[in-house]
Amino acid sequence: MSAFQTAIVPAAGLGTRFLPTTKAVPKELLPVVDTPGIELVATEAAEAGATKLVIVTSPGKDAVAEYFRPQPELEATLEERGKTDLLAKVRRASNLLAVETAIQDKALGLGHAVACAEGNLTGADEAVAVLLPDDLVLPTGVLTKMAAVREKLGGSVLCAFDIPKEQISAYGVFDVRDTGDDDVKQVVGMVEKPKAEDAPSTFAAAGRYLLDRAIFDALKRITPGAGGELQLTDAIALLINEGHPVHVVVHRGGRHDLGNPGGFLRAAVDFALEHPDYGPELGEWLRARLANS
Ligand code: UTP
Repeated sequence: MSAFQTAIVPAAGLGTRFLPTTKAVPKELLPVVDTPGIELVATEAAEAGATKLVIVTSPGKDAVAEYFRPQPELEATLEERGKTDLLAKVRRASNLLAVETAIQDKALGLGHAVACAEGNLTGADEAVAVLLPDDLVLPTGVLTKMAAVREKLGGSVLCAFDIPKEQISAYGVFDVRDTGDDDVKQVVGMVEKPKAEDAPSTFAAAGRYLLDRAIFDALKRITPGAGGELQLTDAIALLINEGHPVHVVVHRGGRHDLGNPGGFLRAAVDFALEHPDYGPELGEWLRARLANS
């Protein structure tokens, strides 16, 4: 049995960095080539053993949950026309895992969004995975490693990237102690966006969390932090202070930040260059375009 069955994907934010598009289209549905970021993240959760996905959404963002529902009419039309490749693509998201929604009425922060999913858990959920849909962690597989660390050391397990010190002030940074395994560190504290000289380490937080169920109790006891929002990191800090084991798995790979247009475009180009239909022509065009810039 996997260390978790339920994955929570918070998708109720305002997506202000993608305005004006996000007036009508949730940023989680913007396509990386042809597939929305939230499907890529749901696939990652399913690969790591999740059987249920709880999407935290807001009243105006029904399209995010709709995306995971079967589309019988469209499927019948594609079947009639013999479009088997397209049919497989259309069915992919709805066949991944069981999808439920939780509603966050107001964007009161990531911690608040996670707390909204508590009612979707069952007694069997001793831990939950939280995946931020605007953070692609590549190659996939880090959640499986995080689950193995929870099996061994208990508590909650987070994901970190080792970032060059000169870039560290853009991130939430872990204060860590060695464990004897270079890729697993014990977390003793966290600092949001420190100056490079004050950073306790070069290990920066990524949008993957495997949280002991105790997080929901901690979320009820924190007060609004930066920006008046309930911060998930404040609840994790509370758990650390109370002696709960918290570790990070250091992911030695790449990532894409889909949360802003610059990062999103980079991801789209990266994925498109790998795509057999679009890659070769795009690569040629990019080389010519850059030669003329
Ligand atoms: P972000 O801060 O990146 O998303 O939150 P945002 O607030 O939608 O974007 P900007 O800053 O206005 O451009 C990370 C993830 O957490 C969700 C977001 O939907 C996003 O997937 N989130 C954030 C919530 O579900 N609720 C919140 O109150 C805040």
